[in-house]
Amino acid sequence: MNDERGNSASGEVSRRTFIKVLAASGGAAALAGCGSAATPASGDGGAAGVTLDLTQAANQSLTQTGGTLSLEANAVDQKGLLLVRSSETAVRAFSRKCTHLGCTVGDFQNGTASCPCHGSQFDTGGKPVKGPASTPLKEYPATLSGTTLTIQG
Ligand code: FES
Repeated sequence: MNDERGNSASGEVSRRTFIKVLAASGGAAALAGCGSAATPASGDGGAAGVTLDLTQAANQSLTQTGGTLSLEANAVDQKGLLLVRSSETAVRAFSRKCTHLGCTVGDFQNGTASCPCHGSQFDTGGKPVKGPASTPLKEYPATLSGTTLTIQG
């Protein structure tokens, strides 16, 4: 399920998101003046990043192993991201861009994310479990530090 912003959580949908999208070139400066707790994902002006505070209600699904969350287009990926809490200490982040012809893959439902265009399906490891897609979803580096998740583009 999606709210009006295109974000969703397995089993729970929140209207508010607390996603701080930081484009290293300018986004960090804009946020610095607004009192946000977000920090730039990159301090050298290089790759863009996204930082999520897992204490916020919109991101609660990622506090439990096996939980998933989808994000709309952001500084890391134009198609958005599929996030999976893969263990107590790790979250994996995948592009929502289908590896078949590039449509936007839907949310995880019962451990599988489906592409609406031709029916490819991907598991929570990003691997295709049903074609026509035959290659895994692109994965981005994700770092979990306490309750702060940072995804690097
Ligand atoms: S673009 Fe996703 S299955 Fe074809």
